[in-house]
Amino acid sequence: MKINFNNMMERAIGPHGISQEEVNRVAEKTGAVHRAMEEKKGEMAWRSLPYNQDEVIKDIELTAKSINERFENFVVLGIGGSALGSKALFSALKHTHFNSLSAEKRGGVRFFVEDNVDPDRMNALFDLIDIGKSVFHVITKSGNTVETMSQFMIVLKMLEEKLGNGFKENIVVTTDRETGIMKKICNEYGFKTFVVPDGVGGRFSVLCPVGLLSAAVLNIDIGKLMAGAAAADKACVKEDLYENPAYMYALLYYIAMQKGVNVSIMMPYADGLGSCAEWYAQLWAESLGKEKSLDGRIVNAGQTPVRALGVTDQHSQIQLYTEGPFDKIVAFLGVEEFNTELMIPAPPIDVMDAKYLAGQTLNKLIASELMATEYAVSRAGKMNMRITLDKKNEFEVGALFFFLEMATAAIGEFLLINAFDQPGVEEGKIATFALMGREGYEKKAAELAAGKEKSEKYIMAVN
Ligand code: PA5
Repeated sequence: MKINFNNMMERAIGPHGISQEEVNRVAEKTGAVHRAMEEKKGEMAWRSLPYNQDEVIKDIELTAKSINERFENFVVLGIGGSALGSKALFSALKHTHFNSLSAEKRGGVRFFVEDNVDPDRMNALFDLIDIGKSVFHVITKSGNTVETMSQFMIVLKMLEEKLGNGFKENIVVTTDRETGIMKKICNEYGFKTFVVPDGVGGRFSVLCPVGLLSAAVLNIDIGKLMAGAAAADKACVKEDLYENPAYMYALLYYIAMQKGVNVSIMMPYADGLGSCAEWYAQLWAESLGKEKSLDGRIVNAGQTPVRALGVTDQHSQIQLYTEGPFDKIVAFLGVEEFNTELMIPAPPIDVMDAKYLAGQTLNKLIASELMATEYAVSRAGKMNMRITLDKKNEFEVGALFFFLEMATAAIGEFLLINAFDQPGVEEGKIATFALMGREGYEKKAAELAAGKEKSEKYIMAVN
């Protein structure tokens, strides 16, 4: 995996780029950032995941094998950091139409990630799967998340009704070692349980059982995934900015943010990497969107992440990226070599305008469109950069995850914020508890019922 930062710079894209002087000035902070990253390494337990999971990986692989031998479907019940990693691994590393392949071609179960509580969606899943032949992987670090708990309770009842007492093997849980309602339920029922290691927050958890059980069930090579993560770790240990791509990424984004560049676009040019952009959006948004700095100052930090997909979104969003405001960085995410090739044949009628395509490949077309868009965005003076994976494989995807986690942690240090909490999510959670009638939340329920002053003139019928 390589990163080309050139198009972030003034010398490549003109006055809206970053100057060498700005880099030099901010580079003085790199020493402090590096020291903080070293001192807090113990707290950032996700940084040890590529190295300290041999035992649990054996257990995961045995569990996955047994699931694939005995069941037809594997369903992740989780949300946010407890779902997006599994989704990203699945779409990056498995066949685009995986669930529609024969069982033989799949090599095991069909795979679903249910990360919403839309009743139509959940019922649609039950229309499709035989729940008696399905394993539900309930993932919740806190063990209390309303969405996951609700889904779990629905599934538990259905399984009990269908299988009587014989349903224990249909549920596997990944949760905290000690705390949370889910842990209590596991103790009571004796479900197979994996642990989210202490100090590993949801959005940094893809490389622990949260994402790895899905990976193993999908026959994704966990060893290679971890080797990729370890390689990225090794590439990001030095203090020197020019020898540490995570620090360079963090520093350039930090400078851009100081200049009012408030939007971070991740635009993969490989369909399967679309969910990696979704995973990145959560990592970037939840880690950096903070009201206060570490020393309590109001900073309202953050950058809005946007997921785009090449080439599809060239026909919907590129107009804005080239001609709209100078408030964005586009990170193009490409692959050097696709896993398959497809040639474009001669046109059905003899027309000059289509002839040039004959004998060329979709591989060349998508690569050319990436280069062309990068060129157009740069010509328009907009900041962009390119992350290139050699291939869409376990090693490269493991490296991508780990690298982006390191860059996120490092920019948290440049911004002097806590990149690992999410206090802004709490207010909505509390309001949901109140609206759903949870004991202890009566005051909030009353506050919500009272509402703010509402004016009828701002409530309008459309049909
Ligand atoms: O990244 C995070 O911390 C969040 O997105 C959580 O993963 C999400 O809220 C789900 O939480 P939990 O795993 O506790 O159910």
